[in-house]
Amino acid sequence: MRTFDVRPTRQVSGTLTVPGDKSISHRALLLSGLAEGTSHVSGFLASEACLASLAAMRALGVHIEQPNPTQVRVHGVGLRGLKAAPHPLDMGNAGTAIRLFTGLLAAQEFSSRLIGDESLMKRPMERVAKPLREMGAEVRTHNGTPPIDISGGRRLHGIEYPMPVASAQVKSAILLAGLYAQGATPVIAPAVCRDHSERMLTSCGVRVVSEGLATTIYPPARLASQQLNVPGDFSSAAFFIVAGLLGAGADGLRLQNVGLNPTRTGLLDILRSMGGDIEIHNARLSGAEPVGDLRVRASALSGVQVPASLVPLAIDEFPVLFIAAACAKGETVISGAAELRVKESDRIAAMSTGLATLGVAHSVTPDGMRIEGRPVGPAFGGGVVEAFGDHRVAMSFSIAGLRAAQPIAVHDVANVATSFPGFVELARSVGLDVVESQA
Ligand code: S3P
Repeated sequence: MRTFDVRPTRQVSGTLTVPGDKSISHRALLLSGLAEGTSHVSGFLASEACLASLAAMRALGVHIEQPNPTQVRVHGVGLRGLKAAPHPLDMGNAGTAIRLFTGLLAAQEFSSRLIGDESLMKRPMERVAKPLREMGAEVRTHNGTPPIDISGGRRLHGIEYPMPVASAQVKSAILLAGLYAQGATPVIAPAVCRDHSERMLTSCGVRVVSEGLATTIYPPARLASQQLNVPGDFSSAAFFIVAGLLGAGADGLRLQNVGLNPTRTGLLDILRSMGGDIEIHNARLSGAEPVGDLRVRASALSGVQVPASLVPLAIDEFPVLFIAAACAKGETVISGAAELRVKESDRIAAMSTGLATLGVAHSVTPDGMRIEGRPVGPAFGGGVVEAFGDHRVAMSFSIAGLRAAQPIAVHDVANVATSFPGFVELARSVGLDVVESQA
């Protein structure tokens, strides 16, 4: 089993660039594969999750070159050019991949089967299967989970779909099926959630209209190829943003070329409301996506009640927010975050187990957590914590080393490769003392 050995350190400094955005990298492969002509993608995230999407597109007949890990050239086959895969498509640990591909494959002439790793095989899939069935697709789950079996040759029609959860994966799966539907498909979200699909579809020439919480896709005749520079993943930057707040040296910790799409940056608002000193420099657009450079300074944090409206905008950042909250003065209260229970692990339970081991006072609720922070001295003890195979849990406990009294061993960390190849090297380069070993 892979383990992170984290030794207490007190300071981080320097400048770093996190790898490309996972959500955008998945979408780049799917939409470029459906486009006419060759798309050039740089800054691609060569993580296990995105490589699962890449392998799936290849299995569906798309020629993709990868001259180096972060660059891909996708030779699009057009909306009707995909071919049946010769085997089940294995999405590994990637929830985004399995849900987006389900939407795409529901509209094809051929049948498909989608599978994944142990974690993915337990995750809920009816949330995408149900609306796709309403559109006329034949999609079967097994008691709500993968394998997902999709029958080809169905004619889809547009539906108006009020999503029960604020999920960008569900929204995107429906939009992908909507590319092939007869008539327009409006999807109505209960709250704002990430909009990368809408932005990229628009860049590919598809008419997508967003009005408040409603997003409507109009089926196009074709998709245009794209030249795309994927920004750094805000969700990966989040670990270093919290590290900087806990222990940046006098000059701060600088992060370059971070994706700052406002549907992703809820953590910035939360941390700033806690007293976090985070400056944005050189705000700019990279294609359809806002990006910028960050300078993070060590800050005295105070606990807050996290507003429910920010939950979907920070959904992947809660594990590391819990670490920040453990170092803040007073109580931080998170509610309305039941979705955390159906991520790569039950992130409320997984983080609670580790926080308890490290001596953090907290209580768990069905949809969140209350954490009582320790603003002075070490906020964490030491010991062995489990990541439960969840990449974000593993990386979050590595950041705790900045305020730990003793070493922390984080077990079951191999899946950090899902989203963040090179995490350990990057963490070490700014001063964290993390070593990966085979325990
Ligand atoms: C993602 C959406 C979110 C997020 C996941 C990536 C996406 O999931 O947690 O890591 O790329 O659309 P939900 O749509 O389930 O909230």
